[in-house]
Amino acid sequence: MKTRRWMFLFTLAPLTTMACTPAESGTPGADGSTSSGTMASGTMSGGTTSSGTGMDVHPNWAEDVAPILIKNCATCHQPGGIAPFGLLTYDEAKTVAPSMKSATGARTMPPFNPDNTGDCQTYSDARWLEAAEIATIAAWSDAGAPEGDPTKAPPPYVAPPGLPDKSVTLDMGASFTPDKTLTDEYRCFIVDPGLTKDQYLTGYDIKPGDKREVHHVIMFALDTDAADQAAADLDAADPEDGYLCFGGPGVTASRFVVGWAPGSGASHYPAGTGVKLTAGHKMVMQVHYNMANGTFPDRTTADLALVDSVAKEATITRVAAKNILLPPGQMSAPATGQLKIPATAGDLTIWGSAPHMHTRGKTLEVTLDSGGATSCISKVQDWNFHWQGFATYAKPIAMKGGDTLTINCGYDTTMETTTIHQGESTSDEMCINFLYVTK
Ligand code: HEC
Repeated sequence: MKTRRWMFLFTLAPLTTMACTPAESGTPGADGSTSSGTMASGTMSGGTTSSGTGMDVHPNWAEDVAPILIKNCATCHQPGGIAPFGLLTYDEAKTVAPSMKSATGARTMPPFNPDNTGDCQTYSDARWLEAAEIATIAAWSDAGAPEGDPTKAPPPYVAPPGLPDKSVTLDMGASFTPDKTLTDEYRCFIVDPGLTKDQYLTGYDIKPGDKREVHHVIMFALDTDAADQAAADLDAADPEDGYLCFGGPGVTASRFVVGWAPGSGASHYPAGTGVKLTAGHKMVMQVHYNMANGTFPDRTTADLALVDSVAKEATITRVAAKNILLPPGQMSAPATGQLKIPATAGDLTIWGSAPHMHTRGKTLEVTLDSGGATSCISKVQDWNFHWQGFATYAKPIAMKGGDTLTINCGYDTTMETTTIHQGESTSDEMCINFLYVTK
């Protein structure tokens, strides 16, 4: 309890990693001249600085670039991780320096859907580089990716610790190998928290069975016997373990409670808050397998922190378009929806947000109208279905009874031949923003 971290769902590089990366080089040792044989300077494209060995060229990998990569990239770019190559060593980083420059410059890496520029909101757990970090990578690449003094490189990447207050581990029950003829497979597994009384979910840690293919995991709580039965029927109708699912668990009376992507580490909801799980009911764990690195057997587990009571129960509210009808051949086919907060709701706080569309989604914006003033709550400029999930606001947002939330989504239907409707399957679309709200 004491060590509860103020973070939930998508936590970026764990604090522990950051805490052990400051540039305390310790060994002054190699101050130049000697070991130039291992330096990148031989392959440098001339560069602007020519300091003999290249030891004191800045930016260099050891002192300037490696700390950025360990903090922001290593969770995915490690051997056996979801990314197709590692970025832990100098040799790995040097090889892809120009493509790191363009991917970070375009902000496609690290991947993060919500706009974190400050135009709308900022997030405490954004996978996001500062402009100065992007400039450092660019200047380093332009200079031919010099290594610098390898003894000044930060300590190696350490995987994040687990969930300190774990109550239960949910398991798929058997290992599952996705269909290797597909590039992506979305599979739902029914898991049982075994609750004999209602409890509150306050934290979680998803442990992918095989990090090379588990791209994201979403967990849904089932709330009624009918929902349990509907999920069981879907499972029974599918010959493999679990059942195929795409946008959600295919069950009404289910609630989205956890959204995870690689590198989140153990995460907690904001201190004092939690989401109710109902006694006697199951959960659904949706695993997105991406087979770009190959197809492997997987047995993913979820550790959950559960408590009997919380100071503030959270609801995961959704503002959504209810009637999606997207004609084909449009660059930005619109969908819109509203949620009026009941006048009796009183003062509320929004702590975090998870936008959700399917693969044709491009843009999404949520605004809050409160007593005539309009503010931006969530914004996505270039949606990527592969990187959906929750993000925690840097500053929680106040909302009150009588306010209205409006969502606007835009879709690219230029490749379609028929009208796209609302639904959970790949051939359908969604326009939702989940919000983590407490009194
Ligand atoms: C949350 C996981 C994750 C993080 C964090 C991440 N990457 Fe990636 N990266 C990927 C995956 C997966 C791919 C493979 C292509 C894809 O799926 O988009 C990739 C691909 C790339 C590529 C290949 C070109 C491209 O755009 O596809 C580069 C370069 C790259 N990453 C650089 C970085 C750098 C630099 C960082 C840190 C500043 C970083 N990545 C952080 C997951 C990640």
